[in-house]
Amino acid sequence: MANNQQLTTNNIIGIIGSGAMGAGIAQVAATAGHNVIVYDNNQTALDKAKANLDSTLKKLVEKQKLTDEKAKSILANTQFANDLNQFKNCGLIIEAIVENIDVKQKLFSDLEVIVSADCILATNTSSLSIASIASACKKAERVIGIHFFNPAPLMPLVEIIPGILTDNTVTENSKKIIDSWGKVTVLTKDTPGFIVNRVARSFYGESIRIYEEGMADFATIDWALKTYGGFKMGPFELMDFIGNDINYKVTESVWTQFFFEPRFKPSLTQKRLYEAKLFGRKSGRGYYNYAESVAMPQPKQDEELGKYIFNRVITMLINEAIDSLYLQLATKEDLDLAMTKGVNYPKGLLKWADEIGLKNVYTSLDVLYELYNEDRYRPSILLKMMVRDEKKFYT
Ligand SMILES: NC(=O)c1ccc[n+]([C@@H]2O[C@H](COP(=O)([O-])OP(=O)(O)OC[C@H]3O[C@@H](n4cnc5c(N)ncnc54)[C@H](O)[C@@H]3O)[C@@H](O)[C@H]2O)c1
Repeated sequence: MANNQQLTTNNIIGIIGSGAMGAGIAQVAATAGHNVIVYDNNQTALDKAKANLDSTLKKLVEKQKLTDEKAKSILANTQFANDLNQFKNCGLIIEAIVENIDVKQKLFSDLEVIVSADCILATNTSSLSIASIASACKKAERVIGIHFFNPAPLMPLVEIIPGILTDNTVTENSKKIIDSWGKVTVLTKDTPGFIVNRVARSFYGESIRIYEEGMADFATIDWALKTYGGFKMGPFELMDFIGNDINYKVTESVWTQFFFEPRFKPSLTQKRLYEAKLFGRKSGRGYYNYAESVAMPQPKQDEELGKYIFNRVITMLINEAIDSLYLQLATKEDLDLAMTKGVNYPKGLLKWADEIGLKNVYTSLDVLYELYNEDRYRPSILLKMMVRDEKKFYT
């Protein structure tokens, strides 16, 4: 059987693309004890990644999070290459280049003739299908999605995404090796947004909808979700932090790839921010204005309104998580882990559903569905069946 080798720290790890993600993943792999080769087709990016790794490790040593000896071994383990032929002895290669299907397919087909028969080829894509990337390879069974979150050294979650043709041993070996790097892995299907970028859409989308309907302003919605939901950041603060360009593009991509499913529909509010280049913190202004001279708006701390906002958003999030379980995107445990470890939610959504009571979740959705008559608010079939059978997700 192909790719039945067990990956160990003896394996050389190849990283292609030395931008935000590639550099972070390389640091994780080298810290776990691998020899790592990093390649980028832009020499400036490669030099920058090298300098950044050096300064990051120095800072970690200063903060006593790393010994000097370990920092030296990480640097010694990491090689920066300007020729793909140097990847011929790798056991696993993780691609983190530009999010463009043609460029990724070309890279994968170029790589296949260089690497050994056993080498696993992984992509860190956020929005492209693994099946489409793998289609560029003769051995599509060796191609898999290994999706890290930004910044890779700090975010614990990694989504493992086998494509339709991926060999089971490739999936098992990939999961084992990433687990051994100290990451929390969840196994999911090759569907748009995988787990996190799909389930989290309602956090943003429903909050924007509440704003568009004139019920509350950004500060009040953020306050409500932090106060009554325990979220570390409100949706508007978080979109400004992620960047409205990135957040808008992900929303549009998930919606389009799900054949225009109404639950994922983007909003004109965010599209206009994107068009006006009001990206958020990085551009100085998004939903909020971050100029020092401008005071942050204060929320209207109305308990009834705050609870309504929280209940509406959490209901939509839970419905998405339940529908994802119904469609076998992942196990209930992995769905809950993904949201707590990938986006720092205070609780897994299915656990949260049990606590709120499935009947209450269903009633809240049904009220919205009756009111709006929009498919966006239709309850998942699994939620309906579980309410009918008086079941819970966890005992
Ligand atoms: N930034 C995030 O939050 C995030 C999170 C998870 C996944 N991702 C995914 O990771 C990938 C990389 O994202 P990023 O944010 O690190 O991008 P980035 O723009 O920071 O870095 C991409 C790097 O790839 C290089 N590159 C482009 N084409 C290349 C090619 N043909 N060969 C070799 N190198 C090439 C560029 O020079 C650049 O240095 C994308 O697929 C993205 O969707 C990004």
